[in-house]
Amino acid sequence: MKHSEVPLKIINISKTFKTGFLNLKRVKAVCDLSFTMKKGEIFGLLGPNGAGKTTTLKILTGLIFPDQGQIEEFGYPANSVKARSHIGFLPENPYFYEYLTAREFLNMCADIFNLPKKEKLEKIDYLLNKLSIAEAADRPLRKFSKGMLQRTGLAQALINDPDLIILDEPLSGLDPIGRRDFREIITNLRKQGKTVLFSSHILSDVEEICDRAAIIARGKLQEIGTIAKLLSKGVKETEIEIEATKAQLSQLQKKWKIFTNNTTLSGYRINLPPNIPLQKFIKDLVAATITIKSIKPHKESLENLFLNFNMSTDQNSPTGLQNNKQSSPTGLQNNKQNSPTGLQKNKDKEIE
Ligand SMILES: Nc1ncnc2c1ncn2[C@@H]1O[C@H](COP(=O)(O)OP(=O)(O)OP(=O)(O)O)[C@@H](O)[C@H]1O
Ligand SMILES: [Mg+2]
Repeated sequence: MKHSEVPLKIINISKTFKTGFLNLKRVKAVCDLSFTMKKGEIFGLLGPNGAGKTTTLKILTGLIFPDQGQIEEFGYPANSVKARSHIGFLPENPYFYEYLTAREFLNMCADIFNLPKKEKLEKIDYLLNKLSIAEAADRPLRKFSKGMLQRTGLAQALINDPDLIILDEPLSGLDPIGRRDFREIITNLRKQGKTVLFSSHILSDVEEICDRAAIIARGKLQEIGTIAKLLSKGVKETEIEIEATKAQLSQLQKKWKIFTNNTTLSGYRINLPPNIPLQKFIKDLVAATITIKSIKPHKESLENLFLNFNMSTDQNSPTGLQNNKQSSPTGLQNNKQNSPTGLQKNKDKEIE
C-alpha cells in the first residue's frame, strides 16, 4: 500500500464483546462507525461513559480487532508496522513499570522504536522538560502522583515523533495548570503539522482546542463536524438590548408577536426566538431609529449538546436516541428525522 496524507480513515467498524456467564451476553461497543481525519487537525471524540470511545481507540491502535470494517492510517492497515511507526498512543489507564524511573521508562519506550542513542537522549530530555517532570525524572514511577504519571504517559506517546497522536482522556487527573500545559502541547503539535485524536469529557477544553469533533453514543456516530457547526445547530435565542419608548416596543411586539417584560436601565431586553429572522428584525429597529445597545446570540454549549446524547447505557432501544431527541431543544431532532437513522448523511459525507 502507498503512503497517504490522510492520517486516519475508519470505514464501518463494529465491535461486539461477549460477556457474562458462558459469554452468552453481547455488548455492542462500536457499531458501524465511520469517519475520516484530516492532516493537521485536532479531533475530539466525545461521548458519555460506555459510549465506545476507548474501544474505538484500542481498535485504531491495534490493541483489539474489530469484528468488521476497515481502518487506514496514512494509507496503511491499522495493524501494520508502517502504520504503527507513525502513531503515538496514550491509553486511558496506562500501565507503568513502577520500579523504573521516568527516564528509564522513556528509555525503554524509545528502544522499542530503535531511536539512535544521541537522538534518544535528546528527545527524552526535551520531553521531560516539556512536560515539567524533569525534576522527578530519576524517581521511581511508583512515587509519581496521578498527574505526573499522566505527563509521563504523554511523553511516552510522543517519543517516536509520531504524525498521528491518539490520546484517551489525556486531561483526566490533571490540575488546571496541567490541563493548560496539555492543551498547549496539543495545539503546538498541530502547529508542527501533526494530527491529534483525543477523547475527553472536559468539554470546555474540546470546545477550545478542537477543530472538529465527533459525538458517539452506544457505539454509534451521532454528530460530526467543526465545533462551530456542531454549536451553530443550537442557537437558542438572540438577546437584544434596545433603547426604546414603550410605544415603540409595543409596535414591535404587535408586528413580530414577541413578548418582553425585561426592562433595563435605559430600555428593554428582547429575547428573540430563532424562528424570527434576525436581519429583518434589526432592519425594523434601524428603520424605527431605535438604538441597539447589544446583540448576543445564546448558543447551545457543547455541554448541552453532549447532554442530549448522555443517555443511560441501557441497550434495549436500537439507538437510544428517540426519547432524548423528542425533548431536544437543540433542533437536532429534524436532522435525525430526515433519515431513518440520522447517521447516514453524516457518514457518507465523511467517507467521501
Ligand atoms: N473487554 C470488554 N469486555 C466486555 N465488554 C467491554 C469490554 N471493553 C468494553 N466493554 C463494553 O463496551 C462498552 C464501551 O466501553 P468503552 O470502554 O469503549 O467506553 P468509553 O466510551 O471509553 O467509556 P468511558 O467514558 O467510561 O471511558 C461498554 O458497555 C463496556 O462495558
Ligand atoms: Mg474510555
